[in-house]
Amino acid sequence: MKITILVDNYATQLPSLSKRLLSEWGFAAYIHDYKILYDTGLTGTALINNMKALGIDPNEPDYLVISHRHIDHTGGVRKFLENRTRPITMIAHINLFTKAYAKDEKGNLEDISVDFTENDLKNRGVNLVLIKEPYKLFNDVIVSGQIPRMWGPSHLGAVTDDIPDDMALYIKHPKGLIAITGCGHSGVENIVEYGFQITGLSRLYAMIGGLHFLGLSEDRVRQVVNYLVSKAPDIVVGTHCTGIMGMSALYNAMPKAFRVGGVGLVIEL
Ligand SMILES: [Fe+2]
Ligand SMILES: [Fe+2]
Repeated sequence: MKITILVDNYATQLPSLSKRLLSEWGFAAYIHDYKILYDTGLTGTALINNMKALGIDPNEPDYLVISHRHIDHTGGVRKFLENRTRPITMIAHINLFTKAYAKDEKGNLEDISVDFTENDLKNRGVNLVLIKEPYKLFNDVIVSGQIPRMWGPSHLGAVTDDIPDDMALYIKHPKGLIAITGCGHSGVENIVEYGFQITGLSRLYAMIGGLHFLGLSEDRVRQVVNYLVSKAPDIVVGTHCTGIMGMSALYNAMPKAFRVGGVGLVIEL
């Protein structure tokens, strides 16, 4: 199985240099085997540039799965659709069009909502599927739907609501659960435990994506890292909002399993 990081805050991999990849605040990944694009980054500029540079035709994906409505995950949707000529199925949470805000240091509200309407999507040939419950895309691939927050705290940062729309992508692999997350707002423990619950798996094979350690206290970082260590995953890839402190804590705790993300990173599973 092959997953490529298409958008990330970080340009840390060789293809960034050799293939002139662009990075920007946000996240997007392509799950080749199932033709699923998960998120689109902030502007679409990095997404389209990097897809083309890495030889992934924007027409190739059959599915677009949105992790949550924040603009650093949805801002590339319009440009992605403009670069396609065939319809696509897009799966998102029922709150996709609910306004979203983040507070700056002075307490002012910044709009971080999606920049398209349901009609814009329809006009571009999107079959929009809005969900709240787990949604099976393939026998071994499930979009989480709304993730219960019953196993640990969520990771909310500067936003003004608790982002119930934060959804993970779960893949059942012979070696265990693969959990892919955009911003990890639901909290690492909740994302993994719900993945176990709805897939019936009990082993974590890989955790990939934005793990949202940004803004967490050192104690909370330690808690999350200890939780992940206790699950003994083979692979942890921290991207986007994992942040430098989160990445160094994960690396120190699991030097064999941990990898820094970055645009152009190919993860073979
Ligand atoms: Fe977010
Ligand atoms: Fe994010």
